[in-house]
Amino acid sequence: MARKIAVVLRKGGSGKTTTAVNLAAALHKKNKKTLLIDLDPQANATISVGIDPIELKKHVNNLFTDINIQPEETIMKTGFGLFILPSHPDLADTEAGMKATQVGLLRGILQPIEELFDFIIIDTPPSESYLTVNALAAVDEVIIPLQAHYLAMRGLREVLEEIEQVKRGLNPNLKIAGILPTMVNKRTNMARTVLETVIETYKELVYPFQVDFSIRHTEASLAGLPIILYRPEHQGSQAYLQLADYILKEK
Ligand SMILES: Nc1ncnc2c1ncn2[C@@H]1O[C@H](COP(=O)(O)OP(=O)(O)O)[C@@H](O)[C@H]1O
Ligand SMILES: [Mg+2]
Repeated sequence: MARKIAVVLRKGGSGKTTTAVNLAAALHKKNKKTLLIDLDPQANATISVGIDPIELKKHVNNLFTDINIQPEETIMKTGFGLFILPSHPDLADTEAGMKATQVGLLRGILQPIEELFDFIIIDTPPSESYLTVNALAAVDEVIIPLQAHYLAMRGLREVLEEIEQVKRGLNPNLKIAGILPTMVNKRTNMARTVLETVIETYKELVYPFQVDFSIRHTEASLAGLPIILYRPEHQGSQAYLQLADYILKEK
């Protein structure tokens, strides 16, 4: 049975996609059979592993709209060997029409493929979306990437509340794997202050490592490669490999 982990925060530009892509790539590199699921209509995770979503005939949206399509038919392999269930802009229509009663769909969709993988990593959309609730209902654990910026603190409180809600109803076993400080610019006082506050408030929920701010992350995604393959020696690569080790050590 796969360990299922969603990367969640209702805020764009917080490092969700970068974290999901690199964690999946790092687990793959460590010989774990890993599936990355792109659950964001913007398809940034799909693009970041070198796949053009517009060209796709089958993608994650089909699984919500056509019961005759099996998940196995939509899974692809990236150039570097990672399995991905790619996204497509059409997922935006599904997202817009989704009702509160449909938050258990993804859990059912994943059931038949769970035994095929060691890890399933889900990238989620930034907006308030039933797609994110679908992810929270389907996974065992959540990783929250947190930009070391005071505005991100509010988003963090919101996502923690949302997780509590899901635990009370849809998914009682849901657990927070950790909060990953990201885009940390150590030269600014604000980053330091925010980091100190987050660690003081959330203590052991905060991972004991962080991803520094670096333009290389954007370069890597434009090159269609996870940074752990694009620049293996980079600080960000080391941090994401450490995250994978940390996750492998738990349980
Ligand atoms: N550690 C980092 N330092 C600098 N830029 C980053 C870092 N991580 C991600 N980025 C860039 O910031 C932007 C937003 O990151 P992304 O992972 O797409 O966030 P989200 O999925 O939450 O919107 C992207 O252009 C990405 O390449
Ligand atoms: Mg994203």
